[in-house]
Amino acid sequence: MFDEQLIVIGTGIRTVGQMTMESVGWIKRADKVLYIVSDPIAEELIKSLNPDGAESLFHLYGENKPRIQTYHEMIELALGYVRGGKRVCMAAYGHPGVFAYPTHESVRRARAEGFKARMLPGVSAEDCMFADLNFDPAMAGCQSYEATDFLVNGRQIDNTSNVILWQIGVLGDTTFKARAYDIKGMPQLLQKLYRYYSPYHDVYVYEAPIFPGVEPVIRKVPLYMLPQAGVSAISTLYIPPSAPTRSDLATVQAIGLA
Ligand SMILES: C[S@@+](CC[C@H](N)C(=O)[O-])C[C@H]1O[C@@H](n2cnc3c(N)ncnc32)[C@H](O)[C@@H]1O
Repeated sequence: MFDEQLIVIGTGIRTVGQMTMESVGWIKRADKVLYIVSDPIAEELIKSLNPDGAESLFHLYGENKPRIQTYHEMIELALGYVRGGKRVCMAAYGHPGVFAYPTHESVRRARAEGFKARMLPGVSAEDCMFADLNFDPAMAGCQSYEATDFLVNGRQIDNTSNVILWQIGVLGDTTFKARAYDIKGMPQLLQKLYRYYSPYHDVYVYEAPIFPGVEPVIRKVPLYMLPQAGVSAISTLYIPPSAPTRSDLATVQAIGLA
């Protein structure tokens, strides 16, 4: 096993079945396990694997508090323990490096301060989506954007490709809400998507199951119905291609594919 002072692991989306043996080993071995998980099974498992070291970071979130402020508090807490000589394991749900700022930043900062730090991969919501929605990103490619970033930063869509929009349920809100988010940017998001798709193009609101034996939520709706599709903070949007692949025939011939 490596000799890291900071190790970042993921619990998977459905901890039972998706947490790796390697992650279990690191949780047991750490002096402190700082966890950012909201499902009770993952929390109980972490606490049972390391009863003395487990510490939830969830209390750092606050209603209407900017999430970035909470993330910086998480990073500071983790780095504080590392500087104090503790072996720290940060545990986040899903893949700890997918749409997860405090985990990446903790590794960067720890390394910059001369500590050994490493992130281990986990099973992300996107990995679950490939399985549950039965599509392969190799077929037609796959664009993956954070929904607010897609909307406000001039990102472009190739509608011959698969498209995944993350954090659709917190669109336009940079604060934390314990219950429902007010999805302020939805009309603007639809307007932008209509540049690429017909309002009648079918899209999928997807939620991977967190608990064993539970089916995924898969809501297929025409794009114009998205605001009524019951999007939540854990929903991810999948948009299948709406146009066929256009091959570049000159290149196809030049590399001997035809
Ligand atoms: C801060 S990101 C965390 C992603 C996580 N690190 C991962 O590996 O999937 C939160 C977003 O992930 C997606 N997500 C989280 N849980 C999900 C689930 N159970 N099913 C589908 N998407 C989920 C949603 O897009 C949500 O807004």
